[in-house]
Amino acid sequence: MKETGLKNKVVIVTGASAGIGRATAHRFAQEGCRIGAWDVNETAAPALLEGLKSAGGEAIFRRVDVTDTAAVEAAVQEVVERWGRVDVLVNNAGITHDAQIVKWQEGAVASTMTEEAFDTVIAVNLKGVFLCTRAVIPHMIKAGSGVILNASSVVGLYGNFGQTNYASTKAGVIAMTRTWARELGRYSIRVNAVAPGFIATEMVRAMPEKVIQSMVSHTPLGRMGDPEDIANAYVWLASDAATYIHGAVLSVDGGIVLGT
Ligand SMILES: NC(=O)c1ccc[n+]([C@@H]2O[C@H](COP(=O)([O-])OP(=O)(O)OC[C@H]3O[C@@H](n4cnc5c(N)ncnc54)[C@H](O)[C@@H]3O)[C@@H](O)[C@H]2O)c1
Repeated sequence: MKETGLKNKVVIVTGASAGIGRATAHRFAQEGCRIGAWDVNETAAPALLEGLKSAGGEAIFRRVDVTDTAAVEAAVQEVVERWGRVDVLVNNAGITHDAQIVKWQEGAVASTMTEEAFDTVIAVNLKGVFLCTRAVIPHMIKAGSGVILNASSVVGLYGNFGQTNYASTKAGVIAMTRTWARELGRYSIRVNAVAPGFIATEMVRAMPEKVIQSMVSHTPLGRMGDPEDIANAYVWLASDAATYIHGAVLSVDGGIVLGT
């Protein structure tokens, strides 16, 4: 097994204040990386920075809404001014806003997925990935290398009840990953996606208990994943152990795709 080669690498993690993003920033810090931690949630920043420092990393936090082009461009600039480059971008920030497209009850429309619910999820989960990636690519091309890692989901592979908006974004992330793998390979920029199954974070805890139980029962490993399971996948994909992995979608899901 090769060394990870990650020491002193400059890593941007979006949605770093909670869940998988926080665990991912932490794992990169353990590898001795320099981390640009971005999130709309600033409350968690002091504890996050303290944690990253004691894990062995150097870090800056910036309030960045990934849907805000100017904020994204400015935050990339800040990272480049501070550390001279961007080696890894983890496009992790994501939201849900679930509803059936049309809920039919007693012979009539009871509710629908609103356009607002559709547009907000597309803006963060799909356009946000586009904006952050577009902003870092010139720096990676100049440096002659880079790694882009995108948060997809198993629901991007097989759809999910009540998630027209979310599942579309996660399938779209796979299409962007494969497109960028074709466009950016010539610059030695590797692009991959991770498709987590059900991971114990706030996003999943917000779901009804019976939905969670059903997901666990469809997971051959019989449990939800931990944020660290996904963080480990990102670190491995960014490392020198994965230098020929490109355009891949890595399922990290306890086998849920098989159980569905
Ligand atoms: N938890 C799961 O089971 C699961 C499964 C598959 C995929 N994912 C994906 O993994 C990623 C992380 O999920 P999580 O469960 O850790 O979610 P989470 O809700 O615990 O954390 C998401 C973080 O993103 C931040 N965020 C939200 N909107 C943002 C914006 N516009 N700009 C910047 N930051 C923003 C939030 O403040 C939060 O800190 C998401 O893309 C999610 O879709 C999660």
